[in-house]
Amino acid sequence: MRAKIIGVGSCVPEKVVTNHELTKTVDTSDEWIRTRTGIQERRLSDEATATSDLAIVAAERALAKANLSAQDLDLIIVGTTTPDTLFPSVACILQGKLSAVKAAAFDVSAACSGFNFALTTATQFIENGLYKNVLVIGADTLTKYVDWNDRGTCVLFGDGAGAVVLTASDDGSGVLASWLKAEGHLSDKLIMPGGGSRDPGQKNGRFITMDGKNVFKFATRVLEESILAVLKKANLETKDIDLLIPHQANSRIISHVVKKMDLPNEKVFVNLHKYGNTSAASIPIALDEAFAEGIIKAGDIVVLSGFGAGLTCGANIIKW
Ligand code: ACO
Repeated sequence: MRAKIIGVGSCVPEKVVTNHELTKTVDTSDEWIRTRTGIQERRLSDEATATSDLAIVAAERALAKANLSAQDLDLIIVGTTTPDTLFPSVACILQGKLSAVKAAAFDVSAACSGFNFALTTATQFIENGLYKNVLVIGADTLTKYVDWNDRGTCVLFGDGAGAVVLTASDDGSGVLASWLKAEGHLSDKLIMPGGGSRDPGQKNGRFITMDGKNVFKFATRVLEESILAVLKKANLETKDIDLLIPHQANSRIISHVVKKMDLPNEKVFVNLHKYGNTSAASIPIALDEAFAEGIIKAGDIVVLSGFGAGLTCGANIIKW
């Protein structure tokens, strides 16, 4: 039995903030942001919108495409690092709002790698026969945790949610292999110090702090490592990839890896110019767009690979 994706959906907030708009508040330029990151604009959620509000729309869209109702779900897993509250989980909030009465629900915390970690986790439950229908979501609202005076981070992030519905299938398609990694010795390179049990009063601030250069080095190293590792597990080679959907953080990270791996650009999906880095949502949003644009066809080999705080990295290879 494999975990087969039968529905994909996504949701981004309506509000668009362009690079030009950011130049009014921080010392930056459209040219710097475009050339160093590839980002042109991002979406921002308003004060009243929490992560679950975006996630539920993405979930409903994915369920509609899958032709399933929430009551068919056995499990909901949300990859997020910006839950509405420390507890309950976003997955439990969704389970209640969707009336997915028979579904168990929990969140996975792996920052920008969250969707791949959640997808791999869901796949295990399906392959071992415990559950049949699983909703997997990547959703984040990181713009609520950026210091809008820090030009080194505030230009990078956007908000959004993406969802897939998985079902048990024996038709040969589905998740072929998964690969996950953590390098906890680098945990201080990308951190939101305040708000957890070490600093519940947020004396150390409630903003993302990042050592951009070290995260960049990690990302270029592990993106390639994860793709090669997951290909090997599936007994496939780079030339077998029909579409690579990397985490949408920085076009320079993506092009470095694509060049090193000798992958044709048309086999790599990039939409970060429109959304910035939407963290755990970036890969499922891209997957939804790629599928809607007809880029993914039945039988295609699709590789999803992401990296993030932890530091973490994860990849899944799917036969569509
Ligand atoms: N506008 C203008 N200048 C800027 C900006 C900005 N927005 N940000 C930084 N600079 C300046 C710096 O102050 C520095 O100036 P200086 O030379 O006078 O000191 C100069 O630009 C170069 O700064 P660097 O940090 O060396 O720039 P770099 O080329 O490394 O690019 C970036 C920075 C884009 C952040 C890059 O390091 C990067 O993409 N890193 C990876 C980040 C990432 O992917 N994070 C997400 C991880 S996923 C997750 O889990 C959330």
